[in-house]
Amino acid sequence: MVPESSPMTKESFRLGNLEIRPPLVLAPMAGLTHSALRSIIAQFGGVGLYSTEMLSAKSIPFENPEKSPYLIRTARETPLSYQLLVGQASHVRPAVERLEELGAAAIDLNLGCGAPKVRKLGCGIALWEDEDRLKEVVWKIRVSTDLPFTAKIRLGPCLDRAMFRRRLLLLEALGLDALYIHARLDREPFSRKPRWEWAGLAKQWLGIPIIINGGIFSLEDATRCLAQSNADGLMIGRAAAIMPWIFSCIASGLSGLSSPPPQIDLPAIYHSFCHGLISRFPQERRIGRLKEFTHYFSRNYPFGNRLAMAVQGSTSMSEAMEKADRFFEKNRGTERFKGCP
Ligand SMILES: Cc1cc2nc3c(=O)[nH]c(=O)nc-3n(C[C@H](O)[C@H](O)[C@H](O)COP(=O)(O)O)c2cc1C
Repeated sequence: MVPESSPMTKESFRLGNLEIRPPLVLAPMAGLTHSALRSIIAQFGGVGLYSTEMLSAKSIPFENPEKSPYLIRTARETPLSYQLLVGQASHVRPAVERLEELGAAAIDLNLGCGAPKVRKLGCGIALWEDEDRLKEVVWKIRVSTDLPFTAKIRLGPCLDRAMFRRRLLLLEALGLDALYIHARLDREPFSRKPRWEWAGLAKQWLGIPIIINGGIFSLEDATRCLAQSNADGLMIGRAAAIMPWIFSCIASGLSGLSSPPPQIDLPAIYHSFCHGLISRFPQERRIGRLKEFTHYFSRNYPFGNRLAMAVQGSTSMSEAMEKADRFFEKNRGTERFKGCP
């Protein structure tokens, strides 16, 4: 018999006034979680909540939503959470007003990025480490909007249970609606095994939904992560760029339904992504994004590094697409992942 709280039957979580169903969130990823990728993922379904990449709160009020690759979106990428990088509380209100005008479903605060450029601006982990400024910024966001408000964090600079708990309770007390926890320490690389059980401690301490992130590449990973952490939902990053259909696989697994695996045609997905870039973004904003996506998508093939290198060496979309077509032709039948992982 499956217990009532079995992770195999997780179907949704609440995010303020939203019900996130299925309980699967696309992770924010700079250069990757733009409209072209979100649209491909939407073709397969299974996402409860989409995310933008991190957006500078200082710049966002001045971006043109028709032209900015950070803001362009289609109606299908709904509900969409916008992630903000904030260094100063004074940047909050204009940014939040802008996101409300753009139809944001939720606002997420980046407290986990440790990139030197981001730290230098006092954002991401630098904000997380500065308790007074953290309180000021989080409170400012909370009182500026009725939209669901989340933060995305890592586990901290070292495994310090008391410190971790203190910070989590602080965020909850300041009115967050849910928390995304990337289950790694601040400086740990993505190659390191995630510490799902550590992130799961938050479930014991907080009443708000906890969504765990890090290292989920299959239904089996998703099930183990939920079992180890008792989390309310999962956030998936890199696997979404490798297998944009992964959400549909995990969603049907978690709901207990045995839906047929999606039909996967890798070259068709790649073309559709390229056309998404061409139709949405100005010319100079396309090839960089194609290289970033190909870095991940090429992992679907045993010799995918050849595809990644060919696209990396291209200077235009047409050159990259031609080289990719040649690769697909030559490597037909060798695909590593063509169904549910
Ligand atoms: C290329 C790339 C860009 C990322 N950009 C962001 C970002 O803008 N904001 C953020 O909070 N995390 C960012 N991350 C971290 C991811 O959201 C996620 O926490 C991380 O990839 C671990 O999850 P995964 O194992 O499912 O990929 C990025 C990760 C990658 C690989």
